[in-house]
Amino acid sequence: MALTIKQIGPCFAGEAEGIDLTAPLSEGDVAAIHAGMNEHAVLVFRDQILDNDQHLALSRSLGEIEPAFDTSLRTPEEIRLSTNFADVSNLDKENQPFSREDRRRLFSMGNRLWHSDSSFKTVPAKYSLLYAHKIPSKGGNTEFADMRAAYDALDDEMKEQIEGLVCEHSQVYSRAKVGFHEFSDAERERFKPVRQVLVRTHPETGRKSLYLSSHAGSILGWPIPEANVFLLDLFEHATQRQFVFVQKWRVHDLVIWDNRRTMHRARPFPAEERRDMRRTTLVGEGPTVQAI
Ligand code: OGA
Ligand code: MN
Repeated sequence: MALTIKQIGPCFAGEAEGIDLTAPLSEGDVAAIHAGMNEHAVLVFRDQILDNDQHLALSRSLGEIEPAFDTSLRTPEEIRLSTNFADVSNLDKENQPFSREDRRRLFSMGNRLWHSDSSFKTVPAKYSLLYAHKIPSKGGNTEFADMRAAYDALDDEMKEQIEGLVCEHSQVYSRAKVGFHEFSDAERERFKPVRQVLVRTHPETGRKSLYLSSHAGSILGWPIPEANVFLLDLFEHATQRQFVFVQKWRVHDLVIWDNRRTMHRARPFPAEERRDMRRTTLVGEGPTVQAI
């Protein structure tokens, strides 16, 4: 059976059917997934029973995996999964939920702000592939916002104003927004800011989109508070409900999204329950700002 996609979001996001992601993908399947991603930016695949190796094999058939060893506060001794995975769970190595005050949990609160994965890296992410192993009894949705539609809806004056602007992104900036400041000097060095354009052109479709992320903490050449309120206005515009798709997870859902023209955020759930979500991330095509 061939891949079919039905739109489930307001202006983007599709549910994909007719494909078995547990088996190696044919060239035709790979092309169909990329084409579906170009059109919908977010694809939901349900009832796919994947172990870590199948999740990795699927990811590799779509692109190169971005390792996740230096992006969280888990030390090498504390990691639960191989560094090919971003461990988006709330679980420690023994599969126990982090205590409410655990520093790793508090750092992960940054995921509850709208963001684009790895916008804090010089070469930011292309796709993310997030798979649900265990979900809480309530809450824990993931929301996605369409940055193409948000860009298209800006007036011409705003489009002109933001063209060519460059922001600095760091996990230190996103965490500051949730009141998390407790970084060691080594962590601050590891999380030092990188530059990203504010308007991106999607290489496959040629469509422009806003490249927003809560990791952005300044606009080059602008006073910081002015940059931050300007960005807040853009976030408010870009996350209006008509641009947002809500993923209500079921176990064995796999969601693929294109970080180059969407933002997403995790929603709250009971802290004492297990939410086991594992993500692979694919490397983007290059920096968005040319080195100077
Ligand atoms: C991610 C992420 C949101 C969630 O995996 O990149 O931000 O709902 N996850 O866990
Ligand atoms: Mn994320």
